[in-house]
Amino acid sequence: MSEAKREQWSSRLVFILAATGSAVGLGNIWKFPYITGENGGGAFVLIYLCCIAAIGIPIMMAEIMLGRRGRHDPVTTMQNLAKESGHSRSWGLLGWMGVIAGFLILSYYSVIAGWAMAYVPKMALGAFNALDAKAVDNIFNTLVGNPWLLIVWHSLFLFLTMIVVARGVHGGLEKAVTYLMPMLFVLLLILLVYAMDSGYFLQGVSYLFNPDFSKITTEGVLTAMGHAFFTLSLGMGAIMVYGSYLPAHTSIAQASIVVAFMDTLVALLAGMIIFPVVFANGLEAGAGPGLIFKTLPLAFSHMNYGTFFGTLFFILIVFAAWTSSISLIEPAITWAMNNFNISRMKASIVAGVLVWFTGLLTVFSFNLASDFTISSTISTHYGEFVILKDATAFDLLDYLTANIMLPLGGLMIAIYAGWLMKQEYSRQELNISHFWYTIWTVLVRYIAPAMVIVVFLNAMGIVAFVRNVIG
Ligand code: PHE
Repeated sequence: MSEAKREQWSSRLVFILAATGSAVGLGNIWKFPYITGENGGGAFVLIYLCCIAAIGIPIMMAEIMLGRRGRHDPVTTMQNLAKESGHSRSWGLLGWMGVIAGFLILSYYSVIAGWAMAYVPKMALGAFNALDAKAVDNIFNTLVGNPWLLIVWHSLFLFLTMIVVARGVHGGLEKAVTYLMPMLFVLLLILLVYAMDSGYFLQGVSYLFNPDFSKITTEGVLTAMGHAFFTLSLGMGAIMVYGSYLPAHTSIAQASIVVAFMDTLVALLAGMIIFPVVFANGLEAGAGPGLIFKTLPLAFSHMNYGTFFGTLFFILIVFAAWTSSISLIEPAITWAMNNFNISRMKASIVAGVLVWFTGLLTVFSFNLASDFTISSTISTHYGEFVILKDATAFDLLDYLTANIMLPLGGLMIAIYAGWLMKQEYSRQELNISHFWYTIWTVLVRYIAPAMVIVVFLNAMGIVAFVRNVIG
């Protein structure tokens, strides 16, 4: 497709739906509850919320803005924008890092989405009926212990993703989102009513919202910040590419706030559902990536029409993951199409095959290669700084992308938009009042970069190291 004929979203609403479709996914329903559980609850949630407000929203505005002004794949967009404002073409590297991050995230995202798919027939056939926590745990462990099964589901999910990508993002999924997203929301509300009735609702909510800072570690802070980027699909060009299809004159600020709000709402709802169920069944909040797969079936098995709602719920998780996964690979596809001058179809096939192979690393992390782990700590006068502890290939990929690449990409986006882009351009693109423009500028110039840098340094033990030296 030549750039002159470049497609656009048919309306502002469609853009908001697509961006929300990208944002709301496994990050909200699968990842948020399990990392909250691993990091002790309330304090982690509070840091995550601060990151959404002070880093996420301003950077989302910046990323959409760069996308709309550049109107290309992330690499070309950054090169062209840099040229327009008289800076080095090496800014294209930012686009590059995004392409790679999206590719790596999709490789594990597809495997986890495969778990959710595997749960659909299980739910429908009543595999969890009248089971206790132990038995539900067994079903999950049997699934992830079987590499062949995981490969089948991973292949199926990736195939579905690549079909949509090959047809173009405007193909039909954008219409499906119009119905599926509200349905997901209604089902979350039904589950919420169940959680309220479980007798442990207050305990769950207090776990989620009552901050206990003694439970938070430096890597917990990094995880919370990384998750703010991950859950909003920021820092890797997905939102930039979606922004490149955005018609001029739609309000970027409004769209960003709506998307961030809905995304956060879904994550908090998921948390308010999962933790009461965890406590009601005496489960482990820090159970790791299997958390929702061990708790939700229990909730459904105790609920009226649980088989029906449970099946529907896992179907909706798959759809939520689907609308996110297409945006993960879209930067790579648009880049490959422009760079090698190949068709969307060809780019999708090649990308699909490469992602499939990379996904095997995650598949085997849960079975054959689960003992193959690495750890990394830095010890200082002020204590040990754990960077990675018994990390499998999956943990490593997750850490590298969510905790490092996305915040780094976001940092560069903030620096570019705040410091290097001509103010005349950003004013024109954002088109907000002087007051709000000033607030945005302060956030994107100072607050967001400072927060990202401090959290990075902190997690590397450098803050402690410096204190060590001067103290
Ligand atoms: N935001 C998605 C989720 O929460 C994941 C994602 C990350 C999608 C980065 C695109 C880019 O599941």
